[in-house]
Amino acid sequence: GGRYAPSMRSVILAASRSSRVERLVETAPFTRDVVRRFVAGTTTDDALRATHELVGSGLTVTLDYLGEDTVTPEQATAVREEYLTLLTVLAGADLTSGAEVSVKLSALGQKFDEKLAYDNVRAICAAAAAAGTTVTLDMEDHTTTDSTLDILARLRKDFPSTGAVLQAYLRRTEADCRELATAGSRVRLCKGAYKEPESVAYQSARDVDKSYVRCLNILLSGAGYPMLATHDPRLIAIGQDRARWFDRSPDEFEFQMLYGVRPDEQARLAGEGHTVRTYLPYGSDWYGYLMRRLAERPANLVFFARALISR
Ligand code: FDA
Repeated sequence: GGRYAPSMRSVILAASRSSRVERLVETAPFTRDVVRRFVAGTTTDDALRATHELVGSGLTVTLDYLGEDTVTPEQATAVREEYLTLLTVLAGADLTSGAEVSVKLSALGQKFDEKLAYDNVRAICAAAAAAGTTVTLDMEDHTTTDSTLDILARLRKDFPSTGAVLQAYLRRTEADCRELATAGSRVRLCKGAYKEPESVAYQSARDVDKSYVRCLNILLSGAGYPMLATHDPRLIAIGQDRARWFDRSPDEFEFQMLYGVRPDEQARLAGEGHTVRTYLPYGSDWYGYLMRRLAERPANLVFFARALISR
């Protein structure tokens, strides 16, 4: 972003891929407090409790079992099994009208066995359909975009409500929005959270924002179900305005924000009658997720540093 030196974001995103820094951060005593702000807890029960609370306060939820870049089939299977358990528990608690799940294909084996990832996510989609809810495929770095959109297209033949995430920082995304702005298609539009080269991604905050506006126009004027995922007040206001312009009622699009980020704004939009979905991560593999949140916003780093100093 343009609010701080780009090098800061690069350094943190580089650290997000370092196992040495990971060990340091994970064992630091202050880390717990920081993690708690962005992550609902480590167990299925923690996730269920947080979902109850958010749904009870008038929000909807998409749950993410933390994990990415798994390297063995056993790890990938364990992630799939947790999603199946979660969906059973959500259905049992009568929460599936307000809660769906978000899935990272790299957690299901995409990086080493695309077919395995497909089989795993297919099982999750089937369980979600049986439970009366939906799945959204998170989008990771640009080397996975084609594979993820390909898997999405195959899943949608049997599970048409499977959602995708498109990242406004990628130069290709306007075209992808056009492709996916069709009836029944659920598309989450976000800015994008990974470090990407100039050849594929806009680098300045201004260019990313402009792309976001072009993309939200395409989605809101199209036939699909747009999910505007941003905390940016300017983009939220533009989204509200364009939704009015295109005559979208509150059940024809939604806003999405991350757990722990601008909770007051989430409540405010819901209070105005908008559908608002909180992205709710849980699990013990929180390192990559947390580092991307820290890279986004200097204030989060200050929070992190303060927790360190107060020890
Ligand atoms: P940005 O971080 O640029 O912030 C813009 C403005 O928002 C700030 O200037 C400030 O005014 C306000 N703001 C932001 N944080 C604030 C805070 N804590 N308190 C007060 N004001 C604050 N990415 C990805 O690559 N793949 C994915 O699948 C997803 N999925 C996803 C789902 C959901 C529901 C969300 C909300 C986001 C994602 N993302 C994602 C992350 C996304 O790409 C992006 O990195 C973050 O949302 C941060 O970008 P913003 O749009 O919030 O704006």
